[in-house]
Amino acid sequence: MLKFNIKTDKVVKVDNKKDVHVFNSEDDNLDQVTVESFGEEWSKFNYFDEEEINNIGNEYFDIVDFSKFDEHSTALDVGCGTGRWSVYLSSKFSNVYAMDPSKAIYAAANLTKDIPGIHLIKASAENIPFEDDTFDLVISLGVLHHIPDTQKALNSVAKKVNKGGQCLIYLYYALDNRSFFYKMIFYSSSFFRFFISKSPSFLKKIICDFIAIFVYLPFIFLSKLVKFILGEKWGDKIPLSYYSNKSFNVIRNDSLDRFGTPLEQRFSKKQIEKMMHEAGLHDIKFSDNQPYWHVIGQK
Ligand SMILES: C[S@@+](CC[C@H](N)C(=O)[O-])C[C@H]1O[C@@H](n2cnc3c(N)ncnc32)[C@H](O)[C@@H]1O
Repeated sequence: MLKFNIKTDKVVKVDNKKDVHVFNSEDDNLDQVTVESFGEEWSKFNYFDEEEINNIGNEYFDIVDFSKFDEHSTALDVGCGTGRWSVYLSSKFSNVYAMDPSKAIYAAANLTKDIPGIHLIKASAENIPFEDDTFDLVISLGVLHHIPDTQKALNSVAKKVNKGGQCLIYLYYALDNRSFFYKMIFYSSSFFRFFISKSPSFLKKIICDFIAIFVYLPFIFLSKLVKFILGEKWGDKIPLSYYSNKSFNVIRNDSLDRFGTPLEQRFSKKQIEKMMHEAGLHDIKFSDNQPYWHVIGQK
């Protein structure tokens, strides 16, 4: 276990199995309402089976060259949520450090309870309790766009990557590779997002389940139909086609993520590339595949 460079405020033992190291340091680059919303979300969607983790994980990690790591390599997962990507990495790294500032970290304690090599930390991206240049792989998937100053948070995350190490991030795309028609449909849904994300938690969950059934499923059906008739390429142009091979649990979860989260930002490929360079990363490589954009940089 690596040494912390900040004093732990407390250690919480979950179900007599997992220690969660809690760091309560102040962070003014954190949206408290968003963090609490995620705490709620991940307490509800706290289980992912191994097959689903591997299948979706293979999509996110398609640009990572795992042959660069060995049994001594260490990984850090910033904004881990339930810890599903730490679970994915645990088959490749003997030590994975998973951190999240919300109560989702206790859901992660449950999902990772039988994996001793996953170490849990309750802290935010600006308060990573390790020395700079520590990790061979740092990941932050679907996190930094929920932080007010994304660049500042990315700088903090990238600092923890070893010289020669890699940093994999996933940021919501600005639909820069989509048609005008696609953008219109998408941005009209943002009108609803504005109100839904401000609703009380119980109502938000009900509305997002409703959206999963009456919006996501019909679009998924349409994309499957188009794929069947016109082929894969055309089916992929239909909004939400990404979910055509995902379970209903993932669809409900992502509906809540998309419509229920108060703060989200979107970035184009160009903007992300600039941000990665500014964070001290080079050899930036984007995946051509969904989810857009996931990208890796070297340090
Ligand atoms: C969409 S979830 C992604 C969780 C996980 N990476 C995954 O893909 O399953 C975003 C996560 O970012 C966390 N988060 C929000 N603000 C953060 C911050 N300032 N620092 C670190 N994590 C943060 C939330 O608590 C939440 O668990």
